[in-house]
Amino acid sequence: MASPELNGLDCLLPLMNSRGVQLSPLEFHYAVNVTFHAFESQVYDENHQDMRLSLPRQFELLCDDVLARGPEPGAGLNILDVGCGTGLGSELLLKTSLGQKVGRIDLLDTSPEMLAKCAERASTWGLEYRVLEGTVEAVASGCYDLVLACSVLHHIPDLDGFSVSIRRLQRQGGIFLHLQDPNGDYFEDRELANRVGEIDVATRKRVPSWVRRMSPLRVASRIRREITRTQPKGYIQLVNERLLGEGVILEPMTAEEIWSVTDIHVDGLPFSLGKGVSVTAMKARLVDHDLIASRSYGFFGQLWSELPPRFKAREEELIDQKKLNGRYIGCVWQHA
Ligand SMILES: C[S@@+](CC[C@H](N)C(=O)[O-])C[C@H]1O[C@@H](n2cnc3c(N)ncnc32)[C@H](O)[C@@H]1O
Repeated sequence: MASPELNGLDCLLPLMNSRGVQLSPLEFHYAVNVTFHAFESQVYDENHQDMRLSLPRQFELLCDDVLARGPEPGAGLNILDVGCGTGLGSELLLKTSLGQKVGRIDLLDTSPEMLAKCAERASTWGLEYRVLEGTVEAVASGCYDLVLACSVLHHIPDLDGFSVSIRRLQRQGGIFLHLQDPNGDYFEDRELANRVGEIDVATRKRVPSWVRRMSPLRVASRIRREITRTQPKGYIQLVNERLLGEGVILEPMTAEEIWSVTDIHVDGLPFSLGKGVSVTAMKARLVDHDLIASRSYGFFGQLWSELPPRFKAREEELIDQKKLNGRYIGCVWQHA
């Protein structure tokens, strides 16, 4: 049986041993997480255009679910955005009909660099806001009307402890809204696998003509040339350099190994827990909450903005049908 201080992170031990890590799994996770997001903050908005373009619909639907539940919330809602990053999630929330009622926002993140970007963005919202550095467990007290976690739950190793903190920080009747996490209850779903297969076939045909004309070896060397000519030092390299400099690791990690640590619940990574976020498991954690709605999306494994037009239309149909077997899951809960 794993010792309690491993906190479910024993999956990282083989990676830690191979890189000479002397920290506990929890300390290692924290160090990699904060360092990764320090450098990711510089490219986050550019690399996540798909979320900026695709998530407005999910925010709208989930917020409409809250309003449909009633009673109509008054103005001046007090929000906590956990893992706010550069502020993308809050900004999308503010554009919904529920978001129009927000009065003030607390922006919480473990990464000071993300918070600096977020503060810049928040200064354009015309709202009262505060930036808070740390984890949700460290927030002393609160009485929030709504807690938001956009693309965050899959980074949190201890979702049990996290859920206890969410409950502690909400007012009675408060809302918890989370989205953009891998849909753990449907990893084995055959329909989803078939749809992902369909898009694989369809997009393979869209390979640029120069690629079709060239041998695999020439393709690889052309891509390498283009990358080295146009890319500044990649942020994965910068993450490794900092972790090596701080003595956290003795040998660099690959990108997939780093993501195994930061995206601890994401599947398909060599050392992650890899089980996604399960609504069934969240129900057991949020015992004093009612599930107002759960909604899935990414029915072809990708976000709407990335799909060819005819797949976009099918994605929209599946969203409208409230099918639950997409790649991503979003839910709204109400503290009873
Ligand atoms: C994928 S980003 C999402 C950012 C933003 N919510 C969005 O939707 O664009 C995840 C963010 O969660 C932060 N984070 C990771 N673990 C955290 C924790 N335990 N507590 C607070 N923030 C955390 C990271 O620093 C990062 O900014």
